[in-house]
Amino acid sequence: MIILKSSDELKKIRKSCQIVAEVLEALKSYIKEGLSTREIELFIEKLILKRGGVPAFKGYRGYPASACISINEQVVHGIPSDKVVIKEGDLVSVDVGVICEGFYGDGAYTYKVGKVSEEAERLVKVTEEALYRGIEQALEGRRIGDISYAVQKHVEENGFSVVRAFVGHGIGRALHEDPQIPNFGTASTGPKLKKGMTLAIEPMVNAGTYEVKILADGWTAVTKDGSLSAHFEHTIAVTEDKPEILTKI
Ligand code: MF3
Ligand code: CO
Repeated sequence: MIILKSSDELKKIRKSCQIVAEVLEALKSYIKEGLSTREIELFIEKLILKRGGVPAFKGYRGYPASACISINEQVVHGIPSDKVVIKEGDLVSVDVGVICEGFYGDGAYTYKVGKVSEEAERLVKVTEEALYRGIEQALEGRRIGDISYAVQKHVEENGFSVVRAFVGHGIGRALHEDPQIPNFGTASTGPKLKKGMTLAIEPMVNAGTYEVKILADGWTAVTKDGSLSAHFEHTIAVTEDKPEILTKI
């Protein structure tokens, strides 16, 4: 069941999303070689709490940390660790969730550390562009499949692949609500978009095969072929006009 949000509920989601946006923005200057992913997680946790939010991922289905930090061939759900230290040339994907006044916000960004390879550079650019191609389709009267198709088309035209094992989602009082939003699919299919829907659109894009496997920690998803992966996510609201990107500053 897809839950439409009132303008009052939207205000609360906006608040959580603004904290997510602020964290992802602050990380642009904070993430540097030599930091461990655990140090980055602590920075995120402190900033969320300081802004009056609560980290939404900690404890979610047993997830042990306040953010997911996934490096290079890690696709999503990387668990922050003292032992993982950022180095020059890394791609660092950070996924942040916040809950505030009972409503969730969810966003992700892939950071380039220093000078990265040409392939990494292109992968990050194409993944972020694909997110915006998807968002552009989030108009009243269009369908979920229009978002999926637009993302997949842009990614594949550029020679990369779209992860199938994880999808975007509705968001509100729950982190994951209906509908699911695959990053691959057929235009003009799926649920119709309506004003008041709040959606987390989150392409995960691999340089090689789209297949992933889960590491022994039970969480970290990595590319099956060891190729690089990038992840961008915004929470948006469908309006009677253009989509509102809630996780943008
Ligand atoms: N953005 C991710 C998702 O929507 C993050 C959730 S991961 C978990 O699935 F750590 F919270 F489980
Ligand atoms: Co999400």
